[in-house]
Amino acid sequence: MKTDLVTPIEIVKTKESKISAVDFENLKFGQVFSDHMLVCDYEDGKWSPPKIVPYQPISLEPSAKIFHYGQSVFEGMKAYKDDDDKVFLFRPLDNCKRLNISSKRLAIPELPEAYFMDGLKELLKIEKDWIPTKKGSSLYIRPFVFASGEGFHASPADAYRFIIACAPSGPYFSGKVKVLIETKYSRSANGGVGFAKAGGNYAGQFYPTQLAKEKGYQQVIWTDDNTHEYIEEAGAMNIFVRINDTLLTVPTSDRILDGITRKSIIQIAKDEGIDVEVRKIKVSELVEASESGSLKEMFGAGTAAVISPIAGFGFNGKDYDLPYIENPMADSLKKRIVDIQTNKADDPYGWRVGVE
Ligand code: PLP
Ligand code: COI
Repeated sequence: MKTDLVTPIEIVKTKESKISAVDFENLKFGQVFSDHMLVCDYEDGKWSPPKIVPYQPISLEPSAKIFHYGQSVFEGMKAYKDDDDKVFLFRPLDNCKRLNISSKRLAIPELPEAYFMDGLKELLKIEKDWIPTKKGSSLYIRPFVFASGEGFHASPADAYRFIIACAPSGPYFSGKVKVLIETKYSRSANGGVGFAKAGGNYAGQFYPTQLAKEKGYQQVIWTDDNTHEYIEEAGAMNIFVRINDTLLTVPTSDRILDGITRKSIIQIAKDEGIDVEVRKIKVSELVEASESGSLKEMFGAGTAAVISPIAGFGFNGKDYDLPYIENPMADSLKKRIVDIQTNKADDPYGWRVGVE
C-alpha cells in the first residue's frame, strides 16, 4: 500500500529530554527508551497520518482486542551513526513490507508504506542524539501494530494503533550461546503464523525456552513440528551451520521468518566466495558432523543479535560442543555486514539507507 504522505508530520516535542540520565557506555538491550515515538491510528476504515509525540504510556480499554485475541505484529530494526554523525538504516523497506505481510496474516489492515518510511525517518531526525556510537551499540527500533479496537467478540478489531519506539541498545547476547535442540514443543506449524512477526509467536517460545534455561542452555533450536527431525530457527534468529567449508542455512517456509540478516548473510557469503547451500538440515546430520569433526561452526542471525556464535548444542540428553577454530566465518561475515550497516565499507548492494 503506497499512500503518499501529503502533509508534513505533526510533531509534539517533549518538554524535558531524558537523555542526560542515560549511560551510553553501558547500554543493555532494549531497557531505556528515547524521548519520542511515532503514532498512527486506524479508525473508520483508514489509517490517519502519523504523528510524533513524547514517549508515553498508552491508555486502552480492558476490552481492547489486543488483550484477548493477541492481534499484534512487530518489527525489529536498527539505526547507526557513522564518525561524521550521518545516520543510516539497513534495508528498512524490507521491514516495512514484512510488517504488512505479518499484518495481513493476522487480519490487521496494512499500513501505507509512506507512513512507515517517512514517519520513521522523521522520528530518527528528532532522535538523532539517541543513536549510540559505541562499537556493538545502536538505536534499536521497534515498529509495532496492535488491535486497540474493543469487544469480546472473537473477530478482528475495528481499530488499530501503529507505534515506532526506539531504545538505544548494547549487544543482545554477551558471548557465545549454548542451545538445546527442541523435540517436544514447536514454535510454528504448517499453515500457521511462523513466518509472521506476531507477538504470540514469541509468547509461545517463552515456556520451552525457560525449561531449556533451567537445563543450562540460553536458547532453543526449533525443529519442524511434524517430525522434529529438521532444524528450523534458533530462538529469535535464523540458523546457519558450517560443515567443513560449506555454509548451510535452511529454506524459509510458512513456519520460518524470512530474516533480513539471513538473506544479507547469504548474499555476502556467496560474494566472498563461500560455498553456500540453502537446504533442509537434519538433526542427525548435525550430530554425525559433530562426531566426525566436520561441524565447524553454528550461529544465529538476526537484527537484534546480528551474528551470534553457538558454543554447542544439546540433543537427547547429550551435549555436542563446537571446536575452537581460527578465523571463524561468523566473525568475518559479522564484520562485513556491520561495516556495511555502519558506513565503514562500501555498500555494493544498496542496502544502507541514509537519513537526511
Ligand atoms: N527469526 C525470528 C523468529 C526472529 O524473531 C528474527 C528477528 O527478527 C529473525 C529470525 C531474524 O530476522 P531479521 O534478520 O530480519 O531480524
Ligand atoms: C530482532 O532481531 O529484531 C528481533 O525482533 C528479535 C527480538 C525478539 C528481540
